[in-house]
Amino acid sequence: MNIILLGPPGAGKGTQAQLLQEKFGLIKLSTGDMLREVIKQDNPLSKRIKDIMNAGQLVPDDVIIAMIADRIVQGDIQNGFILDGFPRTVAQAEALDVMLRRLDKKLDAVIELQVDDAALIQRIAGRFTCAKCNVGYNKTLNPPAQEGVCDQCGSTEFTFRDDDKAETVASRLKTYHAQTAPLLPYYQEKGILVSVDGMKEVDEVWHAINELLQSQSNLLT
Ligand code: AP5
Repeated sequence: MNIILLGPPGAGKGTQAQLLQEKFGLIKLSTGDMLREVIKQDNPLSKRIKDIMNAGQLVPDDVIIAMIADRIVQGDIQNGFILDGFPRTVAQAEALDVMLRRLDKKLDAVIELQVDDAALIQRIAGRFTCAKCNVGYNKTLNPPAQEGVCDQCGSTEFTFRDDDKAETVASRLKTYHAQTAPLLPYYQEKGILVSVDGMKEVDEVWHAINELLQSQSNLLT
């Protein structure tokens, strides 16, 4: 089963991709996570990428396409993958089509998570992550049981994403509507786009995705 999770920043793509990885053994391919690894290095390319991400813009297609092309040929994705944050432009989607054709693979579903902008801003503004075990929290929506202490591992150190600042979030949303939303008709025309109400609780969204995949039961065999 090969799936794309599509939606604006903060829609819950990473959250649901993680669940799909755990429950179905699919491999999560997140271009955002890959880029955050790249910008830990100290070289001119990583500095350029960091500046672009912190401006809420898209990293150039050639960089992203090369990154996915390298990853998608690796053996661990044979049982299926979930793309989280890729493609983000029509050029990336077309490049993905070419890659999949060469590998004799196909996309089974493109799941759009629909969330309104006000909710996205609230979700992103309050987001932080345990620096030790990577569990995600939200200041108002999903705080740790004891303030300042990770529920999972007890660590008291947390990280915040540089691109979660209010001005960057506004720019990321604008970028989504201008450059990524055109992928909705792109995949609708191919007959593989399905939409899920991403405004609901995490468990309910997961349930809806699950039902949807069950209804196409050949995807789960
Ligand atoms: P990326 O890391 O992909 O970020 P994003 O798409 O902006 O998405 P987020 O990670 O912010 O949100 P999400 O939808 O995964 O939601 P999450 O589950 O975390 O990209 C970052 C940057 O990298 C881009 O801006 C761009 O510069 C660059 N980039 C990446 N890919 C690229 C590409 N293909 N081409 C070019 N550039 C690229 O949830 C968010 C919060 O909400 C969390 O706190 C979570 O706990 C909470 N939450 C989740 N679900 C729910 C729910 N149902 N109800 C309440 N809260 C919820």
